[in-house]
Amino acid sequence: MNHAAVQLRSVTRSYAGKSGAVTALDAVSLDIPRGSFTAVMGPSGSGKSTLLQCTAGLDRPTAGQVFLGDTELTGLSERRLTLLRRSRIGFVFQAFNLLPALTAEQNVALPLRLAGRRPKRADVLGVLDRVGLGGRAGHRPGELSGGQQQRVALARALVTRPDVLFGDEPTGALDSTTGREVLTLLRTMADDGQTVIMVTHDPVAASYADRVLFLADGRVRDELHAPVAEEIAARMTRMGAVPC
Ligand SMILES: Nc1ncnc2c1ncn2[C@@H]1O[C@H](COP(=O)(O)OP(=O)(O)O)[C@@H](O)[C@H]1O
Ligand SMILES: [Mg+2]
Repeated sequence: MNHAAVQLRSVTRSYAGKSGAVTALDAVSLDIPRGSFTAVMGPSGSGKSTLLQCTAGLDRPTAGQVFLGDTELTGLSERRLTLLRRSRIGFVFQAFNLLPALTAEQNVALPLRLAGRRPKRADVLGVLDRVGLGGRAGHRPGELSGGQQQRVALARALVTRPDVLFGDEPTGALDSTTGREVLTLLRTMADDGQTVIMVTHDPVAASYADRVLFLADGRVRDELHAPVAEEIAARMTRMGAVPC
């Protein structure tokens, strides 16, 4: 069995553009241990979202290999990849992307339905409970605060018990207090064994992680273990990054 939750082997993603090819990721190799919380930082355009999307099976690398546990994503057909995403990957975005007409409970149950599973009410309510929203199951997104909506999105991402939970700026649309609540939840989940990979531009958010990877020009230029926010901010400044 593969000890890493995720492995990238020389992953390159380039785009053909009008003024030549853009290399969004440049031969990136990485191991993400199971149950770890990783933050990905770097200037705007450094390849953070591309890294996340290639790792989550939402995008395909131009070259190289991506492994989720023992499964090589880069070898899968589109159909197998879709099935894998539905069952083994969780994703939260900056915009919560909840369906406004559905209740919190219905939103959380949706990935199970899409995966062809019959949602058990107790499971769905259990996940809502885990994110502190046990009492809000019947509320629609419009009746919830931003932080509560993001926690519903988190519950929706977790309900399939994914191997890896990905977040692209999951606290980007939240005020700092609400953002901290979501980060504390992510930290707790990692402490309970959930592998978490999160893109952020906020050094305080990144300080909740076990490891911070710094990207620039599509490469991992630097990393910090057990980081503190001041150290992360200093590293970003040293890299000449406009944090974004
Ligand atoms: N669909 C695309 N077509 C062309 N270029 C793209 C596309 N997506 C991203 N890029 C380019 O790849 C680079 C990395 O983008 P991205 O991963 O979004 O960076 P980040 O998330 O760090 O801001 C940028 O130069 C961006 O312009
Ligand atoms: Mg991005």
